[in-house]
Amino acid sequence: MKNILVIGATGQIGSELTMKLREAYPGGNVVAGYIKGAEPKGDLLESGPSEEADVRDAARIGEISDKYGIDTIYNLAAILSATAEKKPLLAWDIQMNGLISVLEVAKEKGISVFTPSSIGSFGPGTPADDTPQDTIQRPTSMYGVTKVATELLSDYYHVKYGVDTRSVRFPGLISYVTLPGGGTSDYSVEIYYAAIRGEEFVCPLAAGTYMDMMYMPDALRASIEIMEADPSRLRHRNSFNIASMSLEPQMLYEKIREYVPGFRMRYEPDPVKQAIADSWPNKMDDSCAREEWGWKAEYDLDAMTVDMIARLKAKLSRDGAL
Ligand code: SER
Repeated sequence: MKNILVIGATGQIGSELTMKLREAYPGGNVVAGYIKGAEPKGDLLESGPSEEADVRDAARIGEISDKYGIDTIYNLAAILSATAEKKPLLAWDIQMNGLISVLEVAKEKGISVFTPSSIGSFGPGTPADDTPQDTIQRPTSMYGVTKVATELLSDYYHVKYGVDTRSVRFPGLISYVTLPGGGTSDYSVEIYYAAIRGEEFVCPLAAGTYMDMMYMPDALRASIEIMEADPSRLRHRNSFNIASMSLEPQMLYEKIREYVPGFRMRYEPDPVKQAIADSWPNKMDDSCAREEWGWKAEYDLDAMTVDMIARLKAKLSRDGAL
């Protein structure tokens, strides 16, 4: 049995991961932690406990941990990369003050912690192709600065205090459930919505802008598998490169057109997003994750697109949005 607190449970990853964890650990408590204004609804609300939990409020996280006997925290609260450029102090506050409050509670109560890192933790000096696990991390975005600091602080708490911290560097994540907000990779989700709604898509990144992308089911499985991994096999902890597809906008567009033939897209690059995307890798090497905990992605571009289109169509027509 596991008792888990998901902080940021109504966000892009949290809304799906919380449900997946409830299925994976049916005997335990999987608490959906949310902030005011982002309360859980529907299945997420009804399928288990939820608690207001601002990631910066260590006392509150401590109380929830005691109430449910929490042994693992998934700390998913974050301001994504494009918004972080506009609100750098808020991004610092949520990412860093949030992390330290989680780690302090974890240290005191013996809780394991997953705080994701990202392709955003790399920068223009990083080898862009087959980006190694251990390499230069000198990001030029505020998001990236906080993600490198997240990796370092998480490792520090492991080495210094024995806190069981582990994580992955997520690619841009694609899903049909909850929209991301304020990220550089968001176009890869929005493009599917435009295609299904029969709208022209205005792409905020230029053709040829490669970055790692991943379908959400793979990302959810990675989040669970890393926390289940045998610790004696882990030579790394924070954070593992995980990869599945290296995509640029034209590839996504042409793949979607195979299934939605009339779909149209034009390019209108957003300077902030383009600069961020240009500083990120094209394709990470995830061989350490494969060797140390058996990671392997399942979805490729075609399998993802078939599933995305079918599920998004069903969702939008159920919501009366088509
Ligand atoms: N998907 C995030 C973003 O675009 C990166 O981790 O900001």
